[in-house]
Amino acid sequence: MTENRNIPTHVAFIMDGNGRWAKERLLPRKMGHREGVKAMKRMINECDAMGIRYVTFYAFSTENWARPQEEIDELFSLIKKFAEGELQEYSEKGYRIRILGDVTQLPEPTRKALEKIVAASKGNSGMCVSVAINYGGRQEIVNAVNNIIQSGITQIDVDSMSDCMYTYGIPDPDVIVRSGGEKRLSNFLIWQCAYSELIFLDKYWPDFDRSTLEEILAEYAKRDRRFGKIARLS
Ligand code: IPE
Ligand code: IPE
Ligand code: MG
Repeated sequence: MTENRNIPTHVAFIMDGNGRWAKERLLPRKMGHREGVKAMKRMINECDAMGIRYVTFYAFSTENWARPQEEIDELFSLIKKFAEGELQEYSEKGYRIRILGDVTQLPEPTRKALEKIVAASKGNSGMCVSVAINYGGRQEIVNAVNNIIQSGITQIDVDSMSDCMYTYGIPDPDVIVRSGGEKRLSNFLIWQCAYSELIFLDKYWPDFDRSTLEEILAEYAKRDRRFGKIARLS
């Protein structure tokens, strides 16, 4: 068990490696995605148990439309099942659910199921679970600027810009964790990551569990977040 100090307020996960997890087992990619959803549910429970207040998952990027239609359909069907299946449990636990991204492009049944869970959990004060779907960091910034232009505002600052992002009201991630071995952000939270600690793990997303979270929290606790100040004395 990790020491209860230095627990990040907001942990964001780039859930990568589902396809390779399946390939290693000679299974179709969709089996990797199914295990990926299980891992996501597991990590929601574990993060809550650790006292993390905000947790965010990157589920579908604006670039993922480049995948075969069959895989896209499978992913949205899983997202719909997740929204429908977990609604009751999560609202009982008091979680708030937020969706980051442009939901207008999603298949209607998926969008409706997501909107239902967001609306139902709106008044909750427990852990905030955000899922980034049809999310792209550059698109988020462009969308924010367009909203600003339309509202007639002629000058903005960092705080007012942050308020125009999909993540309004959510503190920037303290740590962004990517599974699957790639060391890149793939258009994830590029505005919000300015001072996030970055952790890249080789482990594939479906293998993430409590011990992985403990490893992440231990690594995070070792980081010296200077925010421009001088290094802390060791
Ligand atoms: C992450 O796993 C899930 C999504 C991007 C939707 P991948 O499907 O990217 O898995 P790999 O990277 O091919 O192993
Ligand atoms: C990043 O994974 C997007 C999500 C986890 C949703 P990708 O597998 O799409 O990223 P790239 O293409 O390897 O950068
Ligand atoms: Mg990938």
